[in-house]
Amino acid sequence: MKSAVGISSIGVHVPEMYISVEELARLRQVDPAKYVTGLGCNKIALCSSKDDIAELALEAAKRALSRWDGNISDIGLLAVGTESGLDMSRPLSAWIAEKLNLQGNVRSYEVKHACYGGTLATRQAVEWKLAGMGKNKVALIIAADISLYAEGDPGEPTEGAGAIALIIGEPRIAQIDPMSFPYSKPVFDFWRPIGQQFPSVQGGLSLECYIEAVKSCFADLTAGRNLEQVLNQFNAMCFHTPFAKMVKKAFFALCHEHGWDDALIEKIYQQKIDPTMEWNRETGNSYTASLWMAVARALCGLAIGERVAAFSYGSGCGAELLTLQAGPDALQGAWREDILRDLASRREINAEDYKKLRARV
Ligand code: CAA
Repeated sequence: MKSAVGISSIGVHVPEMYISVEELARLRQVDPAKYVTGLGCNKIALCSSKDDIAELALEAAKRALSRWDGNISDIGLLAVGTESGLDMSRPLSAWIAEKLNLQGNVRSYEVKHACYGGTLATRQAVEWKLAGMGKNKVALIIAADISLYAEGDPGEPTEGAGAIALIIGEPRIAQIDPMSFPYSKPVFDFWRPIGQQFPSVQGGLSLECYIEAVKSCFADLTAGRNLEQVLNQFNAMCFHTPFAKMVKKAFFALCHEHGWDDALIEKIYQQKIDPTMEWNRETGNSYTASLWMAVARALCGLAIGERVAAFSYGSGCGAELLTLQAGPDALQGAWREDILRDLASRREINAEDYKKLRARV
């Protein structure tokens, strides 16, 4: 029998600055309630000019490695999921490998599928281990992004940034179940043509596609069983979080399809979903890292065997629903230190500084 595979270590990194969405609303002369209540946004994490995507990703990787008892030579796969890559050919993983002095018998690459790229990289690592390819090696997976829209774009209040690194091997923190539930459909809901600096978005279509993907993935998970009984198995349900209201809309749409009343949906949402987005509210949309920020938050403090569902969505579009079971190291939640330290030391900027920062991008 194959041994279980999952997350051995987690590292999280949030950049050093942020702007509140209320301050952005002031700049754009929009009612702040639209951003706060209408979209469920809170803060937008921002990188300074010295911080690029490679630095952000590298820091998360170093933190995951610092809490893991293996050696660099134990890494047999390095994959970075991102839509903020530095080059059309050279993978972002090469920048990381250089800094970590990682070379030789290692598969190193970048994965692109909008916000789904980090999950794809994670799944590939799990399947690589389960197939026996990894032998005694582990995979280092990083999901990292800097999300910026054109100034004044409706997507601007959902901007953000962040990075998360996972060491995939022994399931000390969580087992990732071998079975998962994918979905895809070719659409143009959110895309960024080659050479274009900021994304093009069909906002309404992107919401519809996300909801359709949630319904399809959860239908495959429930496979005709009662949805409430299936969801009751999970202590937490995590979703890709472009903004919190998207997650709430999708969960309500899923449960309405099963005839639930609003009071029950709200109760489950408040118990099992809303708390997982605590760190997402501090970062804004970190694209590939967004789901894994929520998963990392949800795993903190879980007892062995407690379960988490994780729904990943990437425009274009592709989605996948994963299920995880907490391992012995989830209870301690050591990676929480990373984010607490970053949040305590980061600097709030005002609208004037934001304008200057955007002028330099
Ligand atoms: N007070 C309170 N609420 C207000 C308000 C006010 N003064 N004014 C408006 N609102 C509410 C609206 O009623 C609306 O709520 P409901 O949807 O519940 O009705 C909400 O605020 C948003 O208002 P609009 O629909 O008018 O917002 P918009 O069109 O300006 O922009 C958006 C919304 C299209 C999502 C935009 O933010 C966007 O383009 N975002 C980027 C794309 C995105 O994130 N899509 C999500 C799915 S795709 C994905 O997940 C991949 C990814 O990461 C990008």
